[in-house]
Amino acid sequence: MKATSRVLGGEQAAFLVRQRVARLATADAAGRPHVVPVCFASARSSIYIALDEKPKKVPASDLKRVRNILENPEVALTADRYAEDWSLLAFVMVQGVAELLEPDTDEHAAAVRLLRGKYHQYETMRIQDNPVIAVRPERAVAWGALDEPAPHESGVLDTIHGRRSVRKYLPKEVPDGVVEQVLEAARWAPSPHGRQPWRFAVLGRAETRERLADAMGEEWRANLQMDGQSQEIVERRLEGSRRRLLDAPVLVLLCLYLEDLDEYPDAERQRGETTMAVQSLGAAAQNALLAAYDLGLDTGWMCAPLFCPEKVVDALGLGPKLIPHALLTLGYAEGDPPRRRARRPLDELIVYRD
Ligand SMILES: Cc1cc2nc3c(=O)[nH]c(=O)nc-3n(C[C@H](O)[C@H](O)[C@H](O)COP(=O)(O)O)c2cc1C
Repeated sequence: MKATSRVLGGEQAAFLVRQRVARLATADAAGRPHVVPVCFASARSSIYIALDEKPKKVPASDLKRVRNILENPEVALTADRYAEDWSLLAFVMVQGVAELLEPDTDEHAAAVRLLRGKYHQYETMRIQDNPVIAVRPERAVAWGALDEPAPHESGVLDTIHGRRSVRKYLPKEVPDGVVEQVLEAARWAPSPHGRQPWRFAVLGRAETRERLADAMGEEWRANLQMDGQSQEIVERRLEGSRRRLLDAPVLVLLCLYLEDLDEYPDAERQRGETTMAVQSLGAAAQNALLAAYDLGLDTGWMCAPLFCPEKVVDALGLGPKLIPHALLTLGYAEGDPPRRRARRPLDELIVYRD
């Protein structure tokens, strides 16, 4: 089996992973074509399509696409973007072989998790009881402005639902202009008295990130050892975190900056000011994450700097008034993330209504 990562180029994989709908073409034994729109999730070596309960009147096994795959596993899947501005048109077509994954296998379970991570609607559908179509790509063809950010035709709620934490990226550069647009969004976050108590450090160079990873790793190693973790687990976790810092195309360090806040004579109100500043840093972070998603990127959040701010300040030579709080990773997702935490129902979250 060939890996998608090798069949698809970086731009193609990045385009595909961000599309919400594709067209799946199958053919029966006589070669009669059949094309349907499908929701799908991408992994390194396969593309997965659920056989769901969207209002289908027939059992999954009777669906024409399933019967076709059983007769003739050759398929094609096309994801495309249409915009009235034709300079933004693009598509990726993948040709390959389809397989039906039966429930109760590891790959089926992993595919269901991926699909639920990408489409929250699947959380309440019993897709785990039906086979999942796995397309194993063998060839890919692409055309058009794959790299352009999607036109802003989806509403902010779609962006909110689409954003997800990504921990593995393609080795594909993020243009400086896109990083600036992400920070521009962060800049417009609400803040206490409009004081904007945050500053950003953009970390692109490998040597800089290595210095940061070494400095934070030292502190984390000591903390994990203090927690009584085995040496093997300590090393594995440190390596994972280091890989994330080095592999993400861009890191943005969010620092708290308290110098412009109001000053109060009493400690309680001063604590309130600081809390508001931290709340506002969270709002700036979320603005950045949503803008990045809207611009075709994916993101991750790493809390590590919060636990060793002095080490981060030293490693990067930042001013002493900056308090490192969080690292955002920015890049193009290698695939849909393997798991996504389900959300609690709203009824549980709304604790008072009158
Ligand atoms: C304050 C904060 C700190 C976080 N720290 C980390 C972290 O250190 N490492 C990590 O992998 N994810 C971290 N996350 C991401 C969460 O794990 C993630 O948002 C959550 O699991 C929900 O998944 P989703 O973002 O894909 O919806 C953090 C998120 C927040 C808001």
